[in-house]
Amino acid sequence: MIKNILITGGAGYIGSHISEILVKNKKKIYIVDNLSTGYRSLINKKAKFFKLNIHNNKNIKKIIKENKIDSVIHLAANLIISEGEKYPKKYYWNNVIGTQNLLKACSNNTIKNFIFSSTAAIYKDGQFKVSENSIIKPKSVYGRTKVKCEKIIQSFCKKNNINYGILRYFNIAGSSPSGKIGLINKSDHLFKNFSREVMKKRPIFKIYGNDYKTKDGSCIRDFIHVSDIAEIHFKVLEKIDKTNKSKILNCGYNKGTSVLEVAKEFKKQTSKKVKILITKRRKADLVKIIASNNKLMRFIRWKPKFNNLRKIVKSCLIWEKRQ
Ligand SMILES: NC(=O)c1ccc[n+]([C@@H]2O[C@H](COP(=O)([O-])OP(=O)(O)OC[C@H]3O[C@@H](n4cnc5c(N)ncnc54)[C@H](O)[C@@H]3O)[C@@H](O)[C@H]2O)c1
Repeated sequence: MIKNILITGGAGYIGSHISEILVKNKKKIYIVDNLSTGYRSLINKKAKFFKLNIHNNKNIKKIIKENKIDSVIHLAANLIISEGEKYPKKYYWNNVIGTQNLLKACSNNTIKNFIFSSTAAIYKDGQFKVSENSIIKPKSVYGRTKVKCEKIIQSFCKKNNINYGILRYFNIAGSSPSGKIGLINKSDHLFKNFSREVMKKRPIFKIYGNDYKTKDGSCIRDFIHVSDIAEIHFKVLEKIDKTNKSKILNCGYNKGTSVLEVAKEFKKQTSKKVKILITKRRKADLVKIIASNNKLMRFIRWKPKFNNLRKIVKSCLIWEKRQ
């Protein structure tokens, strides 16, 4: 049975939501985060926190041993696509070498399960609905670092008899119904940018390109609520632990929503007059990507709780008002 879980990147947006659900389910959690993009205010009060870099495998090894950690959820990474294009070495160092160093801390230790945050950004553009077997050909540096990590983790876990769950998240949005945690700062996050604008006197929604070959010309994504993603982690972790299986799983709703549809929903939920500004396309953006989630659904028999654009937007606005 899973008892003690180490979460890297637990002071971040997704990590704080995963922490919340694990604590609710009576798990002991230990967070390793260097606070480079995370926040103390997002760290769960019941967690034991170590301000530490994932490169510091000596100290992490000690933490794992002393606290009898049985499972690791590895989220710590850099993830802004445009930043990765500008600083590829930084992304390679933090994401790939960081993961390698973390794995060193897991070898010859108490770890039985390892969950990794991967991304839909690893898939080749233009495939639209992707299954786990679809073509892998990342357009971005960020996506390439995640492909490398997936490979390293698979081979390490096989060698060391550790169950792995590689979770390929699609686009995460929303915030916890508890109102205590949410997305604080991320420059290229659609829902965050619209939420921020809505708080202004004269909101402007910037949309990157409206001449894509999609139903309304804007990009299409499979947006999934962060609390649903958090629940997936808990369920996958339990399942791989029980069955001793390793899986790569797409995490999305199997549903596409366009950027313009998101803008319209935000408009609906505010009384302010919103201006929509169309600007040029961004270099590394995929046109359309939707998750085929059959494998996930079969593996954990999961029912999403927030699969509804109105609910996702509402949760973003409730959180933003509290900021
Ligand atoms: N947000 C999304 O839509 C999305 C989509 C797909 C995949 N992901 C993946 O999910 C994970 C978490 O993303 P997030 O949105 O919560 O981002 P985030 O920036 O809020 O969280 C990342 C956390 O990792 C920490 N961190 C970064 N480098 C570190 C290091 N070297 N040592 C220790 N801590 C470090 C940061 O301080 C931060 O708290 C990432 O691996 C990301 O690639 C996110």
